[in-house]
Amino acid sequence: MAPKEAAKFAPGDASKGANLFKTRCAQCHTTEAGGANKIGPNLHGLFGRQTGSVDGYSYTDANRQAGVTWDESTLFSYLENPKKYIPGTKMAFGGLKKPKDRNDLITWLKESTA
Ligand code: HEC
Repeated sequence: MAPKEAAKFAPGDASKGANLFKTRCAQCHTTEAGGANKIGPNLHGLFGRQTGSVDGYSYTDANRQAGVTWDESTLFSYLENPKKYIPGTKMAFGGLKKPKDRNDLITWLKESTA
């Protein structure tokens, strides 16, 4: 049997990721330190933090209680289908179905939220 294609995170192209963020995420999220909470929470410091931990942002209980630590691998699963990964989330985003898009985006996110 052929190996399943890209079931796990692998480093991608950060400049493509930046573009994906701009077109798919930036209307709801900022990534810089001290950035505003928009429709979704500011994503600064995302890697290594628990779901639902931005002060002053009003999460759903589903997101707050998910008990997930955000890293390359949890984001890779979450961003494919947020509502499947966290049932009850209010994040209105259908998901990035292509593994390559998720790799590019997560590669950029890691740099831009650090
Ligand atoms: C239409 C607005 C919208 C779009 C587009 C959107 N998000 Fe979200 N996002 C949200 C909301 C709202 C939440 C909070 C969910 C909750 O509390 O249930 C959220 C939550 C998150 C979380 C969890 C944060 C935490 O602190 O636990 C991550 C990570 C995230 N979004 C990343 C992304 C990325 C990456 C994209 C682009 C691929 C994206 N989002 C697109 C609105 C959006």
